[in-house]
Amino acid sequence: MKIGVIGYGSMGKMLLWKFSEAGNIGKEDLFAANRTPEKLEQAKTIAGIADNAGVASVSDILFLCVRPADLKNVIGEIKDSIKPDALVVSLNGSVTFESLHKVISAKLAKVIPSLTAEIGRSQTLVCYDAGVHDEDKQALEALLKCIGDVIELPENEMGMGSELVSCMPGFIASIFDVICTSAQGHTSLSKEQIVKMVLSTMSATGDLMLLKDMTFEDVVTRVATKGGITEEGTKVVYEGFPETADLLFEKTLEKRKLTSEKANIDFSSRA
Ligand SMILES: NC(=O)c1ccc[n+]([C@@H]2O[C@H](COP(=O)([O-])OP(=O)(O)OC[C@H]3O[C@@H](n4cnc5c(N)ncnc54)[C@H](OP(=O)(O)O)[C@@H]3O)[C@@H](O)[C@H]2O)c1
Repeated sequence: MKIGVIGYGSMGKMLLWKFSEAGNIGKEDLFAANRTPEKLEQAKTIAGIADNAGVASVSDILFLCVRPADLKNVIGEIKDSIKPDALVVSLNGSVTFESLHKVISAKLAKVIPSLTAEIGRSQTLVCYDAGVHDEDKQALEALLKCIGDVIELPENEMGMGSELVSCMPGFIASIFDVICTSAQGHTSLSKEQIVKMVLSTMSATGDLMLLKDMTFEDVVTRVATKGGITEEGTKVVYEGFPETADLLFEKTLEKRKLTSEKANIDFSSRA
């Protein structure tokens, strides 16, 4: 089975190297293309390099790792080169199968990895268009296992799903950045020390909850004893943060809806 990756940016580069490192895909079965070909210099050691149409023409599973604004151009370029039975995988959650089908008739899937794939701990979302066979699903999911767990969702839940696994590292990082910056104003400890203490505790808290099957409430109850110091802090979070969290999801889901509508118009205008 030949695997192609078009777009060698954050996601394309990560996928290409993870597939190679998994050990069961040799250089002869891995292909890559990028708008700026000079960036593929290192990738030459693990994959065959070609232009977009060249990669599409050999791939059984073809990953389109470009931003939504570039997707219609790339698809326009490759649509006549895609192998008849290939599975075309878009990494963009906002561009619908309906939009994509205005330009290509291939079997389609969407895959949303998380940055945590870098350490093999992605919660990778997949969704399939009608017409994708079980064998295609098995082949794709077997491939994606090298970056972590795979979760299949219906297309209409890919938006919120993406917020929860793909955007979440960014949300978590920004929330704890705010907390660490605030802590700095109340201590003589260095920012570096604060960040290390918070990061290690954050990571251990997540592992503790997963390993011991604890809920958020369990953790809060264990740490914030009634009338104690932690309770003063958790009260502030429960009183003040829900409004910010609601606004965060309102804004991101609205932006996702606009991106999807824009893509639908773009893809319609090409049909
Ligand atoms: N970043 C994430 O955490 C994440 C997570 C899940 C899903 N996604 C989705 O994954 C997709 C890619 O995101 P990204 O973060 O990897 O973007 P990125 O870092 O900007 O990479 C995009 C790549 O696409 C290449 N490209 C653009 N137009 C092209 C064309 N016509 N032909 C060939 N290559 C072309 C760019 O080439 P140049 O080198 O010339 O710029 C660049 O290397 C997006 O749809 C995004 O929504 C991202």
